[in-house]
Amino acid sequence: MSPALQSSLRVLISAERIQERVRELGARIDADYQGGIHLVAILKGACFFLSDLARALHIPAKIDFIGISSYGKGKTTSGEVRLTKDLDMSIEGFDVLVVEDIVDSGVTLNYLMKVLQQRKPRTLRIAALLDKPERRIQPVDVAYIGFQIPDQFVVGYGLDFAEQYRNLKDVCVLEETER
Ligand code: IMP
Ligand code: MG
Repeated sequence: MSPALQSSLRVLISAERIQERVRELGARIDADYQGGIHLVAILKGACFFLSDLARALHIPAKIDFIGISSYGKGKTTSGEVRLTKDLDMSIEGFDVLVVEDIVDSGVTLNYLMKVLQQRKPRTLRIAALLDKPERRIQPVDVAYIGFQIPDQFVVGYGLDFAEQYRNLKDVCVLEETER
């Protein structure tokens, strides 16, 4: 009989480190976008990062959401990207910053940047809380990165596994161990 698997969480980046880093990124974005910014957060994972990052800014900021689905219920990308919710506002002529939780294969953001570029923003850049550079299969240029992490599956601070764990305050590695 095969042994049962048990999930355990190990803190990788504490809530305090996240908050400190978000303040640093906010200060950089403040300095780079003095005319204001149009934030586009990718549902649902980027919600917590967006809400802290937006409050770290002192420049005028508009907020919109876009829904993208590229994952099934597992831990790897299906390779297929689908728009599940479009923006409410036009981005034409605006300085747009896409806010994402994590860049993994790059498939999602590579696709989304092409879609958004067609809508003629004045500028278009990306802020991602986490980056797993080892996993990249499609190129993505990320202007603001919170933390580079190794190739491990993480949850918390917006990130989920099968829709669970998003509300954890820390970013944790989800490990499966034998019971
Ligand atoms: P990509 O298209 O492979 O870059 O995947 C981006 C999306 O995959 C992210 O927005 C996350 O929703 C999800 N994802 C990638 N790595 C992880 C992880 O370690 N934990 C949770 N979700 C992840
Ligand atoms: Mg996501």
